[in-house]
Amino acid sequence: VCILVLSWRAYITDFLRVMDMETIKQYEEFIMPISKGMDPFVVESAEGATIKDTEGRTYIDCFSGLSVINVGHRNPHVIEAIKKQLEKHLHCCSYVYYLQTVGELAEKLAEITPEGLKKSFFSNSGAEAVEGAMKLARKYTGKKEFISLTYSFHGRTFGALTLTGQKKYKNKMGPFLTGVTYADAPYCFRCKYRLEYPECDLECARSLERIIGTTSSGDVAGMFIEPVLGEGGIIHPPDGEYFRIIHEILKENDSLFIVDEVQTGFGRCGRMFASEIWDLKPDIMPLAKGIAGGLPLGAFIAKEEIADAFESGDHLSTFGGNPVSCAAALGNIKALKEDGLIENSKKIGEFFKNELLELKEKYPVVGDVRGKGLMIGVELAEQHTKKPLVDLADKVKNKMREDGILIGKGGYYNCTLRFQPPLVITKEQVECAISSLDKSLKKYT
Ligand SMILES: Cc1ncc(COP(=O)(O)O)c(C=O)c1O
Repeated sequence: VCILVLSWRAYITDFLRVMDMETIKQYEEFIMPISKGMDPFVVESAEGATIKDTEGRTYIDCFSGLSVINVGHRNPHVIEAIKKQLEKHLHCCSYVYYLQTVGELAEKLAEITPEGLKKSFFSNSGAEAVEGAMKLARKYTGKKEFISLTYSFHGRTFGALTLTGQKKYKNKMGPFLTGVTYADAPYCFRCKYRLEYPECDLECARSLERIIGTTSSGDVAGMFIEPVLGEGGIIHPPDGEYFRIIHEILKENDSLFIVDEVQTGFGRCGRMFASEIWDLKPDIMPLAKGIAGGLPLGAFIAKEEIADAFESGDHLSTFGGNPVSCAAALGNIKALKEDGLIENSKKIGEFFKNELLELKEKYPVVGDVRGKGLMIGVELAEQHTKKPLVDLADKVKNKMREDGILIGKGGYYNCTLRFQPPLVITKEQVECAISSLDKSLKKYT
């Protein structure tokens, strides 16, 4: 009997393994329940702009592991750089001993980021980069308060979460930091003032002066701003004066201009950094996500005189600037430059957006199409009433996955479909995604 039971158990276990229900069950039993709503398959492997599951299905990846794999899954430049580093050392602590890859990456970042940015600190994630930037801004200015945008997202640690301008991420976890106020996001589709560009005269930017005057005590260390608000629903201002007005007001208040390029950096928006689109000159810039081809790494880079406000011991991270991640980041920058990926992001991004705009003409449920490069959002909302169509967004995302296309979904109203594929995606793969979206919209509307 015992042998029979054991062999039956072994048979069941093998069967679960083939379906890989075992992994899903392990998640349910042993991982904290933050993963509800995950795409229901287990990843076996990933290459370029495709992901394969354990049942042998191949998907076109239009979300890049939350907008990280900009250079494509398992990019050869990244793999080669990692392998070389693995032969040398994995960890000695980048802030205890001098490490070659760390120095080299810091110099490279100073070369490729907007003019004036020079000295970096390496962390492990975007949220940590934002926290570090907050500390540096306070230390340099001697001021305590911050401004950020409504609809913004800056990470899940307490400082970064305080800056975040969306309740859903804070969900009863306060109290948060004091001294943070929120300025108007350039959300044209849902303009707070019910105006249209250019007649609006960018009231959302100009209102910053009033917001500082009425909601701060005048002790503003800096303002955090995403050039394109990713988690807010791929929101960005028109190509014009928005950021110039904001930066001017900050300068008048002796407050720093801190441009969070965690999500928009490393080719995502058709330029190395989205700052280039609007010719931004940040004082500090947090980075992460697409920085290291899929390995965990964050950084904040600052102007030299600002960076030098930090004294020995003011900031540190045991794993921050791990040499394997830094080597991967060097391979990542090489791939972006040598393989023409930034040009691809711009060119394929334009093609993608134009195709999506055609769907907007065809379906009244496509409220807005916006974005830069390969960071594109499609807000599903009734065009006239702007009513968010959350159920439709869920159905469309699921149907597209059944067709073999993986996309993201989010935004403040949770009805924005997010197209943020690896920058190696081809025109043919984009056409497959468009055709699937077209079919899904036809089916459900
Ligand atoms: C603009 C921005 N800043 C910060 C973060 C936080 O990054 P991480 O999840 O690596 O902590 C994110 C993550 O989505 C982001 O989009």
